[in-house]
Amino acid sequence: MAKPWIPRMHLWEIDDQPWFPSFLRAYVQTGLTHAWTVHIPILQPSSPATIVADILRRMLGASASQRTYIDFCAGAGGPTPSIERALNQRLASSPSTTNGNNVHQVPATASSGVVNSESQAASDTTPSYAAVADPKAKSTTVLDTTEDGDGQVQFVLTDLHPHVESWAAASKQSEHLTYVNHPVDAANAPADLLQQYARKEGSKKGIFRLFNLAFHHFDDNLARAILKNTVETSEGFGIFELQDRTPTGLLTCFIFGFFIFLIAPLLYWWSPVRLFFVYIIPVVPFVLVFDGLISCLRTRTADEVEALLRTCGAPDAENWEVHSGKEQFLWPCGYLNWIVCTKRSV
Ligand SMILES: C[S@@+](CC[C@H](N)C(=O)[O-])C[C@H]1O[C@@H](n2cnc3c(N)ncnc32)[C@H](O)[C@@H]1O
Repeated sequence: MAKPWIPRMHLWEIDDQPWFPSFLRAYVQTGLTHAWTVHIPILQPSSPATIVADILRRMLGASASQRTYIDFCAGAGGPTPSIERALNQRLASSPSTTNGNNVHQVPATASSGVVNSESQAASDTTPSYAAVADPKAKSTTVLDTTEDGDGQVQFVLTDLHPHVESWAAASKQSEHLTYVNHPVDAANAPADLLQQYARKEGSKKGIFRLFNLAFHHFDDNLARAILKNTVETSEGFGIFELQDRTPTGLLTCFIFGFFIFLIAPLLYWWSPVRLFFVYIIPVVPFVLVFDGLISCLRTRTADEVEALLRTCGAPDAENWEVHSGKEQFLWPCGYLNWIVCTKRSV
């Protein structure tokens, strides 16, 4: 893939700042969730979340049904509840598939690195992640220990700032979605969580980590630490970003801000306070666009992620395959950039 002419810049995002009010952060996070789950016919082949489910199904092949998917930076839920539904639908309709992927390659038809999605619009509906997390929520772990015997897979939501009410509402919609209701640092994943789902002797099951709109948040040192921990305790991980360091990536952020103004009354008609912060004091669209632009500048290419992976310090790091691609999620210029890394089977 060609190196972007815009260099990577690790600038700061408003949403990450401790001084940014938590109720506004929750509004912004909910906006991101809508960006993943809304499907606008004609302009979108399907929602970006559904495209991610298709990528996982295609790239993981038969092992897709042997993983527990842990989202380490779930925000208000982001795409994960929708990915869970769509992936389990696909696993139910075609339980076994072989993995016909290429290692760190995109098809020759995509001179710009674009892989056209073969996915069709799935029956994903936009869930309501309206509730705001209570940061004082009792710190206990809520985990489903069910071993699925039906070929369906389990998803777990975690974050440094848990959005417990949103996650609880989402997990009520699916027996395959659970969450951890205390802060989880992706750089220091709790041993009990990892032990519960990590691969055991004689079992094919293991962890697949999800980083949706998240990996760009980590500076190089933190990213290496997270990759080391991932390599040591997981079978694979996926980095999914709705932006990149290209002019069209930057343009898509402005289009997203415009959409927020258009569709906010449909999404938030029940909340005058949210509409106030969209139209009267437009903090929410401003932060979404500003942080989106900064996110573009922070997003790494697959080569840059691979360089961090190979130098993360885990003895096994050489034994991982890196797959990557780019799929259009919004006409004319919105592209989902994905990197899927898996441990080579020995
Ligand atoms: C831009 S949001 C993305 C949220 C969600 N995945 C989505 O796509 O809508 C990034 C998230 O990363 C979380 N985060 C940042 N650093 C983290 C860390 N070290 N460990 C866990 N979560 C972290 C933040 O709390 C935030 O919720």
